[in-house]
Amino acid sequence: MDKEQLISKLNWFYSLELNQVDLYIAQSRTFEGTYIGQAFERIAYIEQQHVDNIAEKIKEMGGIPTKTGDVISPIIGSIAGKLISFSGLKNTLKANILIEHKAMKDYKDLIEAIKLENQDQELLKILQNNHVDEDLHTAWFSEKLNELQPEKGL
Ligand SMILES: [Fe+2]
Ligand SMILES: [Fe+2]
Repeated sequence: MDKEQLISKLNWFYSLELNQVDLYIAQSRTFEGTYIGQAFERIAYIEQQHVDNIAEKIKEMGGIPTKTGDVISPIIGSIAGKLISFSGLKNTLKANILIEHKAMKDYKDLIEAIKLENQDQELLKILQNNHVDEDLHTAWFSEKLNELQPEKGL
């Protein structure tokens, strides 16, 4: 993978993470005054750290952090169509889990590629740390969803 390809991949994550910050802040407002609302706010803060660490890396590589528009809608589009209303806590959690799964898959792919090519070890660590955070978010969203629908599970 050459530098331009890597910067372009990092810009995809930059866009995804920015979209997640906006989404989770909006959700924290929707559920304001509840523990879940506090958790969404905290998770948004962690996504902002991902935005920042990726932006820093893009700049370090000589690139410009560039937002490529809405990357969330295509990810949740597959379930959004099936849901009558895209509001409510259950649907919010389901959408979040889909987005986090997509983030994890893409982080995993890039981590593997960088490992194979033995590229930038500092970047590798950033991506691995972000990947772990997404895994923790997914676990928390899943647990809350299970609490709301214990009979169905996930
Ligand atoms: Fe993230
Ligand atoms: Fe996340």
